[in-house]
Amino acid sequence: MKNLILQAIKARENAYAPYSGFYVGAALECEDGTVYTGCNIENASYTPTNCAERTAFFKAVSEGRRKFRRIAIVGGKQGEMTAPVPCGVCLQVMAEFCESDYFEIILAKSPEEYEIKKLGELLPSSFSLKDQ
Ligand code: THU
Repeated sequence: MKNLILQAIKARENAYAPYSGFYVGAALECEDGTVYTGCNIENASYTPTNCAERTAFFKAVSEGRRKFRRIAIVGGKQGEMTAPVPCGVCLQVMAEFCESDYFEIILAKSPEEYEIKKLGELLPSSFSLKDQ
């Protein structure tokens, strides 16, 4: 747990957020224990902005990973940590690959101060492969 949060804090150092000034890092742990990290990447035309969580997921999925155990997330303005809750778009991406009563989302302020939520707590319902 502590180590995953530390990896998210490290990933946050690469956050590119000149517009919001809100820097986010994520560390996604696969079922086999491998970890993919991500940061938010903003854009001058705003909508192409990618959140830290999706960066981590897309890196992992593009490398052939499909099974995930948990993700640690840290974020805040420069010099502070506020433990942001993932946005709806990121939760929807998580729901594509993760079981709602299994996958854990660790909202961290530091390696010592964090809260653990199940995906289903943050996104009780979602549109999924089963609905099509
Ligand atoms: N952001 C994330 O990367 N993850 C979150 O969980 C919350 C929001 C980013 C998007 C944008 O670059 C900045 O934080 C402010 O919303």
